[in-house]
Amino acid sequence: MNRHERMTPPANKAEATARVKIHLAGPEEADTLAAVHRAAFGERKGWSAGDIRKMLAIEGTEALLARCDEAEACGMIITRMMWEDGEILTLGVRPEFRRLGIGGRLFASAVNGMVMQGVNRVFLEVAETNTAAIRLYEEARFEVMGRRPNYYLEEDGKKVDALMMVRVFGQGCGG
Ligand SMILES: CC(C)(COP(=O)(O)OP(=O)(O)OC[C@H]1O[C@@H](n2cnc3c(N)ncnc32)[C@H](O)[C@@H]1OP(=O)(O)O)[C@@H](O)C(=O)NCCC(=O)NCCS
Repeated sequence: MNRHERMTPPANKAEATARVKIHLAGPEEADTLAAVHRAAFGERKGWSAGDIRKMLAIEGTEALLARCDEAEACGMIITRMMWEDGEILTLGVRPEFRRLGIGGRLFASAVNGMVMQGVNRVFLEVAETNTAAIRLYEEARFEVMGRRPNYYLEEDGKKVDALMMVRVFGQGCGG
């Protein structure tokens, strides 16, 4: 199967679990990461391959890609670790692959990966109107810790607050 071929998305979560695999993506996959990001966020908000390559060049930054049948890329996430703190920089799933558990799996893999590497707090920001993402984060036991007023500009020109969310996994050794 050609890696860029369009395919029929899985019919349900069980099928998605079998067909969709997640792997670590390096800068050589920046074009694919950007294509998925653009499909998830739209042309105006989508990040370019160049932006993504620059991000991945910063120490502590990692990307995961979800591929269906080892071919079509359908979801992505980028994270950054700095000492004991981790941050979700972005998470996106192609519209036709949503509600199949892919976003949740990418999120859990990325967060677990950071925790395994010593992170004990993970932060993220999300538009207060993005109920799908907020629900996903709340299910992963993230909690709202603050708000950035008028942080995002929506398609219709309206400004929307960002919610800052965090999950604390453990205490440092106090040293
Ligand atoms: C947010 C996003 C990544 C979710 O991806 P997904 O693959 O559809 O998510 P999942 O199927 O794993 O859903 C996990 C849970 O999130 C919640 N959720 C996801 N989409 C939802 C929706 N449209 N409405 C309500 N809850 C939703 C549900 O609780 C869901 O669990 P359930 O299906 O058992 O009810 C996807 O909608 C997306 O790419 N959106 C555009 C980009 C974006 O907003 N990214 C986040 C920026 S902070």
